[in-house]
Amino acid sequence: MKVGFVGFGNMAQAMTDGLLFKGAIAPSQIYACAKNWEKLKANAESRGINPCRTAAETAEHSDMVVVAVKPYLVEEVLKPVREILKKKAVISVAAGLSYDKYEEILLPGTHHISTVPNTPVAVGEGIIICEQQHSLTDEEYEQFERLFSQIAVIQQVQTPLLGVAGNLSGCGPAFAAMFIEALADGAVKHGLPRELSYRLASQMVAGTGKMQMALETHPGAMKDAVCSPGGLTIKGVAALEKGGFRGAVIDAFDAVEGK
Ligand SMILES: NC(=O)c1ccc[n+]([C@@H]2O[C@H](COP(=O)([O-])OP(=O)(O)OC[C@H]3O[C@@H](n4cnc5c(N)ncnc54)[C@H](OP(=O)(O)O)[C@@H]3O)[C@@H](O)[C@H]2O)c1
Repeated sequence: MKVGFVGFGNMAQAMTDGLLFKGAIAPSQIYACAKNWEKLKANAESRGINPCRTAAETAEHSDMVVVAVKPYLVEEVLKPVREILKKKAVISVAAGLSYDKYEEILLPGTHHISTVPNTPVAVGEGIIICEQQHSLTDEEYEQFERLFSQIAVIQQVQTPLLGVAGNLSGCGPAFAAMFIEALADGAVKHGLPRELSYRLASQMVAGTGKMQMALETHPGAMKDAVCSPGGLTIKGVAALEKGGFRGAVIDAFDAVEGK
């Protein structure tokens, strides 16, 4: 399996770093192109992957081609390589470009899927939202899932939910990071060293999320489980409610969705 990244910016590098971190693929199996050759060469060299001069060269070398340029550039960048892509599995990570748009951009019969990954793929703990409607063969989808499930939870959704699911997983890391920072600030205020506060806050968020996934417990029940009557945690919960914590988070999502 050889994977090519057309565009090697933040997202392509995050996916590459995750795959290499997990040992899911050898660096020699990864190809990439970008606009600025010197920058690409440096980014490729530091990871041991193969830099390519053009999208055509990248696609020629690859079985799976990940489209990772900005959405407004996808059509322009893919047009000259459409013939080559007809023989490949095309994985889009471009936000907002779903199955129908790729049917317009690519040649008829090209196998493709639209996805929205989030940045924690870089450490193998990401989410890749996938549009349910795609044209990969069963074998290609299995290969895609086998490879990328090593760095992310792969979640298929119907086309109308691609945006909201992608926003939850894509914008969520910023909200979670703000919570981690704020919680650590609180601990620092009360004397815990800053680095230690970040470490504990981050692991606490990661562990709570993992526990929810493993046990499928209702988040409210997880909160209740650590709130003993008259105890410390319920006092903190009450303070968060007073501060409008949950409403603020829901408002943040409304803002993301533009309503
Ligand atoms: N970042 C995220 O959190 C995130 C989340 C979900 C989805 N995405 C999607 O991922 C895609 C890439 O986003 P990004 O954040 O990684 O953007 P980015 O950091 O700006 O990277 C874009 C890449 O495209 C390259 N490029 C520009 N013109 C090109 C051309 N003509 N041919 C080949 N490569 C070209 C750039 O090269 P130079 O650097 O040399 O200019 C750069 O390597 C977008 O479609 C975005 O919607 C991103």
